[in-house]
Amino acid sequence: MKLGDAERRMLDGAEGNARRKAMEILAALGEMYGAEETVPVRSAQIAGVSYANLGDAGLELIEEWAADGRVACLATLNPAGMDLRDWRAHGIPEEFAERQARIVAAYERMGVVASCTCTPYLAGNLPAPGEHVAWSESSAVTFANAVLGARTNREGGPSALAAALAGVTPMYGLHLDGPRAPTVTIRVETPIASTAEFGALGAAVAAAAPGRVPLIEGLRDLRVEGLKALAAALPTFGGPPIFHVAGRTPEADRYPRPAGGVAIGRREIDEAAAALDDGAGEIDLVCIGCPHATLDEIRRVAALLGGRRVAAALWIATSRPVRETAARAGLVEAIERSGGTVVADTCFVVAPLEGRFRSVVTDSAKGCWYARGPNRMLVHLRDVEGCVEAAISRRSAVGAQRTAHSAQRTAHGAQHTAHGAQRTAHSARRTAHSGRMRGRVIRAGSARGIALSSAVPVSFYGGVDPATGVVLEKGHPLEGRSMAGRVLAIPTGKGSTVGSFVLYRMARLGTAPAALVCGECDPVVAVGAILAEIPCVDGIDTGLIPDGAVVRVDGAEVVVDEGNNGTKKPSTALTVERSPSR
Ligand code: F3S
Repeated sequence: MKLGDAERRMLDGAEGNARRKAMEILAALGEMYGAEETVPVRSAQIAGVSYANLGDAGLELIEEWAADGRVACLATLNPAGMDLRDWRAHGIPEEFAERQARIVAAYERMGVVASCTCTPYLAGNLPAPGEHVAWSESSAVTFANAVLGARTNREGGPSALAAALAGVTPMYGLHLDGPRAPTVTIRVETPIASTAEFGALGAAVAAAAPGRVPLIEGLRDLRVEGLKALAAALPTFGGPPIFHVAGRTPEADRYPRPAGGVAIGRREIDEAAAALDDGAGEIDLVCIGCPHATLDEIRRVAALLGGRRVAAALWIATSRPVRETAARAGLVEAIERSGGTVVADTCFVVAPLEGRFRSVVTDSAKGCWYARGPNRMLVHLRDVEGCVEAAISRRSAVGAQRTAHSAQRTAHGAQHTAHGAQRTAHSARRTAHSGRMRGRVIRAGSARGIALSSAVPVSFYGGVDPATGVVLEKGHPLEGRSMAGRVLAIPTGKGSTVGSFVLYRMARLGTAPAALVCGECDPVVAVGAILAEIPCVDGIDTGLIPDGAVVRVDGAEVVVDEGNNGTKKPSTALTVERSPSR
């Protein structure tokens, strides 16, 4: 990647340690993805703020960068692990609050605006169509690309911070026209009304056309709340961080319509919703505002409550500016009179709630997915009316979701069948190959270990317990297995952009994989590997790496030895040629 004089100075360390590290990350990403040059960014959105996710390892890293790092463009923050003003009222421990405050203060020393919201576009960071930005937070990234027509890759927290410090990002991926073009047409053949259904649609699209850029037809009642729910769910469940809605989003008419397509009807929506429902019963938490609630959503909750008292904890999460507007309109007081809380700066996923609540009702498909992870709750996807009624009755009703409930078994069955089929395909291939493959070095190094191999992508944030390295994702082929010290072979990463910090934290805790081997390494895994100094190579057909085989990674070379004891010689030599750029 061609660097200008200013970028070369940063890389040489003439502008301090933080900018040198920032340029190292950006240069590595640029080389990795075949970028020819950098592009100035108008803004950055930085995920990786909650102390619950970063731990002491992340705190030290951010403080180290803050010693001499100063941002070169508008930079805003994702939610923290607590309401920065009212944390005591929400039962946040003193020690957690002190460390969380240090993280936010370190970002502020770098010149980052402590906006602490995942809807920066509703709180002052609103890029124009065509503008280049460097955003992390997968829901915001997808909203920026799809709805605003801005251009950003799905950055990890550290690469977004690196771009903010350097003021540039490598010009590849979704900064270019080609990868933004739709590759599959999705025909929605059923009305999609609630935010819960828009989230279920995101999950259904990701399942129907994994990794493909969808042009979605048939959506009618489109508002910002539905779009942000769709933008949050699509990448969470394995879709790309961009979509187009025919006739509505800025770039929908810019590219040819993909021929053919996939139909999504009521059955697919209900099955996706049912997979996010752990059954009717008593609940103790209701959350609305994932991504952070709009003023209209808060107004609606206040109206639905109508002065009735809630029996379960009710959280509406939003940004500080929206909360202040809601307070001026009397909405915060009305919700508080009913026993609910309007929290700012945080959300129920990134706050340290593990052990405090057992079962959550939410209108967010993304929220369901992550609540099962870090905070280990039972989840129930409901529309906003269902959420409010659940808060009052302290039960997750069957009512509106009856169809979804009845379809739950089918959906789980289908998911298990799909995973089972992937496992079978995987194990069929595992008998066919052993040998030597060459890929592309993401992070140089050598390691040897037992393969932990999956045909299903892994989300490091929410899908893996950093304290143990055990995969938490329900229904994932690796669920319950630890990746500590293993050679992790996966097609790619998925899920939250906080994953880079999680990998770094795992390395510090000794729970990280010994090496990472990917089919196509996404930026979140790549930056995590660079920060954590884990050998990482991609461009490998990971289906040729049997689970349990002894694998050696040495630079770009991956040697699979099926002997499991490391003594048997590879029997087949394979060379995987990589295209020079993507
Ligand atoms: Fe935002 Fe938290 Fe959801 S960061 S997108 S409210 S998981």
